[in-house]
Amino acid sequence: MANFNYRQLVDWMELVREHPDAVNCFWPSQIHSKRWLVEQVEYQHYFPMPFSCVIFGSWYGILADMLSIEDTTCVDTDNRFLEWCGKKYDTWHGCMSKYEYDVRPDLVINTVTEHVNQEIYDEWFKNIPEGTFYIIQGNNDFQEKDHIRACEDLGEFILKNSGQDHMFCEEIQYEGPWNEELDEPTVYKRFMIIGKK
Ligand SMILES: C[S@@+](CC[C@H](N)C(=O)[O-])C[C@H]1O[C@@H](n2cnc3c(N)ncnc32)[C@H](O)[C@@H]1O
Repeated sequence: MANFNYRQLVDWMELVREHPDAVNCFWPSQIHSKRWLVEQVEYQHYFPMPFSCVIFGSWYGILADMLSIEDTTCVDTDNRFLEWCGKKYDTWHGCMSKYEYDVRPDLVINTVTEHVNQEIYDEWFKNIPEGTFYIIQGNNDFQEKDHIRACEDLGEFILKNSGQDHMFCEEIQYEGPWNEELDEPTVYKRFMIIGKK
């Protein structure tokens, strides 16, 4: 019971009432992959606990809520999401590749690598200030129409996302939609890299 956060629950319920499409942020696979990331930040000590963080492709800010880093900026191309995030966090509207850093944040996060083309990703990565810790996630789900840069395996994910000098790189499996034809779940992989630019 001690870990149960009533305020967070009320806040998320309000989000879903105001924006019914936000329910998609709460699929078990979504929450599990965010939890995986949060655990690495909190318990694995790849870097000191961050006080500032920029989350690219923040969506409705669920990861920001789970991380609870004091100085968080949410970046997204869609203002609908940022209006909600703006209640709690700083926001920046636009493509991640055009984001300009005033100061070097402790951590940058990008869990939407499959949603952007190679040119945008490369520009985003190039702009991360030297010395910044970064965490990126992606997957091998080619079925979703917005996934224009999914990767077959961890090797391809590392290569396409400039993750060669990583401190951490792993994959987990998660269940996608039911495959009616084979009468079995579709199993996908999610990849994660932690590194220092
Ligand atoms: C469906 S959501 C997140 C899915 C992702 N698999 C995850 O678990 O975080 C994708 C988000 O990325 C945002 N996005 C897509 N392209 C972007 C870009 N070029 N710059 C910033 N945000 C972007 C979308 O607006 C949306 O909020």
